[in-house]
Amino acid sequence: MNTVIQRFKEIGIIPVIALEHKEDASLLADALCKGGLPAAEITFRTREAAACIKEMRTSHPDMLVGAGTILSTAQVDEAISAGAQFIVSPGFDEEVVKYCIQKDIPVVPGTATATDVQAAYKLGLNFVKVFPAEILGGIKMIKAIAAPYNMMTFMPSGGVSEKNMDAYLKEDIILCVGGSWMVKKDLIDNKEFDTIEALSREARSRFEKIRG
Ligand code: 3PG
Repeated sequence: MNTVIQRFKEIGIIPVIALEHKEDASLLADALCKGGLPAAEITFRTREAAACIKEMRTSHPDMLVGAGTILSTAQVDEAISAGAQFIVSPGFDEEVVKYCIQKDIPVVPGTATATDVQAAYKLGLNFVKVFPAEILGGIKMIKAIAAPYNMMTFMPSGGVSEKNMDAYLKEDIILCVGGSWMVKKDLIDNKEFDTIEALSREARSRFEKIRG
């Protein structure tokens, strides 16, 4: 398995983060690492996203840091220049996926239907995001979609939280889950890094209980 994808599996829970200020990147990375979740999907929903990736990669070189909400090949270039180690999109975009393959950066497109999963498989992927997982029907829906595609594994994201993560992580088809519950905007804005660390630790310990 690709080493980046292997790290998704080991870390188990990928924090999805909209960071407004690069000054918060290093403190946030500290909190996540201390809490046992040394990973970040920094979403391109803020102007500072690329700068935040660069900052985290420099201050925490051992962390797994990638770019989320990537909607164009230009953003792929921006993310790679900032040091992103992976690319995530909310939906399946053939052009973006092909471009990432060409650039040799792991790409995790969003899927919501069997058609999306099959399109990703056709391009050689065996790991995709499912978004927005809870509203789509949660683990029940993913199991149904996964049935014909036994070569695929999934990262549900969107509505995943400490309340429902167990149901996903109990299933082998789930490689990891993604979510923002430990890195909510108000926690970052109020610089509540201790709370972020505690929520991360709690999430990681639940993950370890399930996956061992
Ligand atoms: C994502 O991009 O995967 C989601 O925005 C994360 O969803 P959540 O905020 O519901 O955890």
